[in-house]
Amino acid sequence: MENLIKDIDIIAPEEAQACDFKTTEEENTGKSKKLYIESYGCQMNFSDSEIVASIMKENGFDTTSDYEQADVIFLNTCSIREKAEQTVRKRLNQFNTVKKNKPELTIGVLGCMAERLKEKLLEEEKIVDVVVGPDAYRDLPNLVSSAEDGNKGINTFLSREETYADISPVRLNSNGVSAFISIMRGCDNMCSFCVVPFTRGRERSRDPHSIVKEAKELFENGYREVTLLGQNVDSYKWSPEENNKARLNKKEENVSEVVNFARLLEMVAQVSPLLRVRFSTSHPKDITDEVLFTIKKYGNICKYIHLPVQSGNSRVLELMNRTYDREWYLDRVRAIREILGIECGISSDMIAGFCTETEEEHQDTLTLMDIVKYDFSYMFYYSERPGTLAAKKYKDDIPLLTKKRRLAEIIEKQATLSLERNQLDLGKIQEILIEGTSKRSENQLKGRNSANKVVIIPNKGYKKGDYVKVRIMECSAATLFGEVIS
Ligand code: SAH
Ligand code: SF4
Ligand code: F3S
Repeated sequence: MENLIKDIDIIAPEEAQACDFKTTEEENTGKSKKLYIESYGCQMNFSDSEIVASIMKENGFDTTSDYEQADVIFLNTCSIREKAEQTVRKRLNQFNTVKKNKPELTIGVLGCMAERLKEKLLEEEKIVDVVVGPDAYRDLPNLVSSAEDGNKGINTFLSREETYADISPVRLNSNGVSAFISIMRGCDNMCSFCVVPFTRGRERSRDPHSIVKEAKELFENGYREVTLLGQNVDSYKWSPEENNKARLNKKEENVSEVVNFARLLEMVAQVSPLLRVRFSTSHPKDITDEVLFTIKKYGNICKYIHLPVQSGNSRVLELMNRTYDREWYLDRVRAIREILGIECGISSDMIAGFCTETEEEHQDTLTLMDIVKYDFSYMFYYSERPGTLAAKKYKDDIPLLTKKRRLAEIIEKQATLSLERNQLDLGKIQEILIEGTSKRSENQLKGRNSANKVVIIPNKGYKKGDYVKVRIMECSAATLFGEVIS
């Protein structure tokens, strides 16, 4: 355990949900300039980078995977924990060396850190030329072109309407099988630890037609899985009136009704039975039985729910302003098990060592994990973020070493539970969607089952995007190994 605590930064990277950053791949469509984007943070940020690439493509930029070749470098940043911001600062220093030999290079900071720090970024990091928040990406070409003329630019305007619904994202780092679709932006919850409402602004839902259209286009282009993204997908809500879309011809568009998340899931699931539908993130306070019944009704909606609990103790949950308690959460899990059965995957996010958390309260998180039996969790220790409710109201009083020890205990518990959950699959027959060859060997293929678990099978020549029936033969805590059923 002691080693585990020492190594905690390594075994529990701050950005577990987005532990690695992603860079652009080479795309050459004969454009005159090159853009390099590096993305940090959550899936929504990766999805935003695809919108950014699309906007820049329209304005004469191809993407490159080599930042030394780039005319423009963008870092799409995350502010969720302090470490996330430190990583970006280090990276900016590295880019500084490139810029020294290439003064015409434009460096932009996008995303949540841009929104949080605004002008400070231009002042603190002298090498930054443009600072653009998540709702201002349409202004990028404009700001980049002024930067090329030597004028630093900033736009951190947060919008109540922007959803980029009309922009067709350029798929970056895609396996050609799975894609993300943003269905909403922002967040109206005020979890006391969280910076997202400040960096992403008010919650707004995207027009369901543009979502269905995007899913159809992806399917026609060979994609077989879409993940609908939002900070709290269960509060998705769109109505022609509310969203001021009177200009739409309602008959033709066939939306006179209010579309909630359950209805949206259904609309996307109906694109094709061969298109898998996933979604993230569900909020325990908002997930309804209607959503669970919709998941049950459609074979192509994956039986997997990411339902972050954050803490297993009701007092801590109240301080976190999560607006549910332990009993409410366990009742939602009971509903999932009742409606979708034992095989439905459930994962969580956990925060260890939130302000004033006692040892007993930390134990409540461990016992809740035992009851729910999560398949997987993203686990963090609390990192105070300036401007949040917790930073204003509570003292960050748990010593770092205690936070790390509690986190290590949570991680250890999760490893046991993941193995236990995977062992339940042994001998079962499951359908997997092939995503490509396994990282380890060309002789193996990697697929994913409905519950979002990676399944490795021998390479019998199946292609990406094929559905294959397999029997699960072996497992580790992280992976299932199967054989093909002929
Ligand atoms: N909308 C999602 C969470 C998005 S942020 C939800 O409500 O579940 C992803 C995760 O980062 C959170 O679930 C939380 O576990 C973690 N997180 C957010 N702020 C944090 C902070 N200040 N310190 C540590 N972890 C944090
Ligand atoms: Fe943050 Fe809470 Fe919104 Fe999630 S629901 S993004 S944790 S404020
Ligand atoms: Fe990070 Fe912003 Fe996502 S803070 S987690 S990139 S919404």
